[in-house]
Amino acid sequence: MNDPILIAKAQTAPPCTVVIFGASGDLARRKLIPALYNLKACGHDITPRNFAVLGFARRPIPIEEFHQLAHDSAVKYSRLKVDEKCWSEFAQGLDYLSGLDRPDGFARLKARLEALEKDRGLPSNRVFYLSIPPEAIQECVERLDSEGLIAKPGDRHFSRIVVEKPIGSDLESAREINHTMQSHCDESQIFRIDHYLGKETVQNLLVMRFANTIFERVWGARDIDHIQLTVAESEGVGSRAMYYDPAGALRDMVQNHMMQVLAMIGMEPPVSLDSHAINDAKLNVLRALKPFSRDEARRMVVRARYAQGLADGQKVPGYLQENGIPPTSMTETYVALKTYLHNWRWAGVPFYLRTGKRLPSRASLIHIRFKEIPQILFNHNDDLPPNALTIRIQPDEGFSFGVLAKQPGLDIAIRQVKMNLSYESEFSENSPDAYERLLLEVMTGDRTLFVSAPFVEKSWEFVQSVLDQWKDASFPMHEYDAGSVGPKAAEDLIKADGREWLNP
Ligand code: BG6
Repeated sequence: MNDPILIAKAQTAPPCTVVIFGASGDLARRKLIPALYNLKACGHDITPRNFAVLGFARRPIPIEEFHQLAHDSAVKYSRLKVDEKCWSEFAQGLDYLSGLDRPDGFARLKARLEALEKDRGLPSNRVFYLSIPPEAIQECVERLDSEGLIAKPGDRHFSRIVVEKPIGSDLESAREINHTMQSHCDESQIFRIDHYLGKETVQNLLVMRFANTIFERVWGARDIDHIQLTVAESEGVGSRAMYYDPAGALRDMVQNHMMQVLAMIGMEPPVSLDSHAINDAKLNVLRALKPFSRDEARRMVVRARYAQGLADGQKVPGYLQENGIPPTSMTETYVALKTYLHNWRWAGVPFYLRTGKRLPSRASLIHIRFKEIPQILFNHNDDLPPNALTIRIQPDEGFSFGVLAKQPGLDIAIRQVKMNLSYESEFSENSPDAYERLLLEVMTGDRTLFVSAPFVEKSWEFVQSVLDQWKDASFPMHEYDAGSVGPKAAEDLIKADGREWLNP
């Protein structure tokens, strides 16, 4: 079978306007504008034939300057090379409005939207992308509503609100944000983005698990010894101190991206591909997590921050010496933890999670280690490595399966070999960026790849049990040199169980 079997065709989105709140910010420049341009430029007839993008932010910027900024961002960050003819068509529907923080800001937004829609012959289908700090979300939604900018769910034209992670900074604030949002709009109008869900390899987890019979049969405590999730980054905090220092690695990565990946690995087969069915199956995974007690947190959670060291051979400062980081900061740039899913499928199988900044390379992987081979026939001395499946989320997307084979020769010598799938060499198609896929799904109204309110809250419940323990100043904050594989305490965490990390 070489021709792909089409299961669901990407839908074409209806004409609409995407309003980017925080349009001059980092996310808008690096991800949203390039993604919107790529959707237009890729020519698969999947973007609405007519759509507009309205940047909305605090700072007044002349429109020509905004166009230039957007163009430069697309040139720098777009997946596809910018084609100037196509860009100028895209730019015709690109507008900018300042005054997000002004009392009359939302009234001006309404007037501008109406004018833009009239001008471009667009219906009032609107996507409000809130690329703003989490503490500003509630006020923004209230103001959208009081200005009459949120249509009722059954209305002829849609209003959809997109919010970025992190939703809140702890369990209580997440509940409050969900509550406020749901009191101003219907859950079906809320799209909580976690860009890991838009990644090709994360989506492939569903296909791999449920379109192949071999994996599902060994997917659980009977055959699997343990699972590791690693999300490593080589970058430091960079210019994001203002966002990152109040957050830290646990809130920034574990509460959202890693919980999503954990849910995709641990979930039961959903009854259908319907978004409710998938989201229910994922939520059940989080229901099987147990919050840490004080004692468990001390044994099973490691926090650390990077000290000065090397990145690409260059000396780099430690976290506390980075620009904008207070010298008294107690923010972690690294977390490792061990947890279990308390259900029949996974009873007794440890899941080891770790993520950190300023590690040797940027690499995310899932490592599934199968049980030891019985000590009969070939494994009398217990020295044969068990099978392992490693799924590379990035870079070099793909997976490899470690199996044992006889080395050619007269002796019986056994060697571990890898059955490897690399997306790049297997498929000629170029993967869309996660934001392209997610923005298109918002426009088409498909909620499968978005995070439900209960998922956010369940995930915070788990994370909150760690945050509560960290309030105690005696909880160790370990250090690791920038460019190293992480703190020794994280090695000890897994070694204590007689296992070791697979380093990318
Ligand atoms: C973001 C975090 O959500 O994900 C960043 O805020 C992190 O700190 C980034 O660097 C990682 O995303 P990716 O796609 O590069 O793995």
